[in-house]
Amino acid sequence: MSHFFTMEDFQIAADFIRKRTAHRPKVGMILGSGLNGLAEAVEQADIIPYAEIPNYPVSTVEGHVGRLVIGTLEGQEVLVMQGRAHFYEGYTMAQVGFPVRVMQVLGLETLIVTNAAGGLNLSYRPGDVMIIGDHINLLGMAGQNPLYGPNIDALGPRFPSMNGAYDPALRAIAREAALQAGIPHHEGVYICLAGPSFESPADVRFLRLIGADAVGMSTVPEVLVARHGGMRVLGLSGISNKLIGEEGAPPPNHEEVLEAGKILVPRLETIIRAVLRRL
Ligand code: HPA
Repeated sequence: MSHFFTMEDFQIAADFIRKRTAHRPKVGMILGSGLNGLAEAVEQADIIPYAEIPNYPVSTVEGHVGRLVIGTLEGQEVLVMQGRAHFYEGYTMAQVGFPVRVMQVLGLETLIVTNAAGGLNLSYRPGDVMIIGDHINLLGMAGQNPLYGPNIDALGPRFPSMNGAYDPALRAIAREAALQAGIPHHEGVYICLAGPSFESPADVRFLRLIGADAVGMSTVPEVLVARHGGMRVLGLSGISNKLIGEEGAPPPNHEEVLEAGKILVPRLETIIRAVLRRL
């Protein structure tokens, strides 16, 4: 499907959302697998199912609720995506990036993006938080990029930089909050694969070798769109499983991803609340 969205497509979705809430958030959040519970803390929430929003991609994955929760958290107005669509579900990269573009058109300035990820770095343990310091856009290197196609100059430049994509000041706040709360945390490199198959032991060794600390199937497409559009980004990975890269090591599975989410939700909530207080 060679379909590219137009400015009008983004505006129609943004207008639809604006009519359904009096909140005018400046901060957007995307909640990953097993992390939907974070949205329960949002106060004075207006809720919009994705299925009602024109062109909005709906997640088909267990652990992804599929609705926007717009309200306040720590006194900040926030727009929270409870669940996300992934490339492996059959969506185009343009569709995966669509919600972030709508955020930009709505005037949001900051994106906090979370995901569940497998730990490649041998010092990482399930339940740890990785503050994303940088990413490897493996999917982009393979020719799949949400910015592929005609550039809409009003939204961002043709060739956006990915230097400092993960805002250094936001990372510092996140680190400080994690340290204060005694949350085991790291700063590292996230790598995005297409999925849905998990990595083979040889894949795991390859990904570690090229400098990745955690691997998942999301986040990078959304960050590319956010940075193209000039939004500040904070990325947080919840390490849900350890990847050893040896034949016979226990394979990752979706159940442990959802299970680790239970430990990770309060940890990520602590960090995100601290960031919202200081924005
Ligand atoms: N690999 C890829 N994606 C993931 C993993 C993993 O081990 N865990 C959670 N998301």
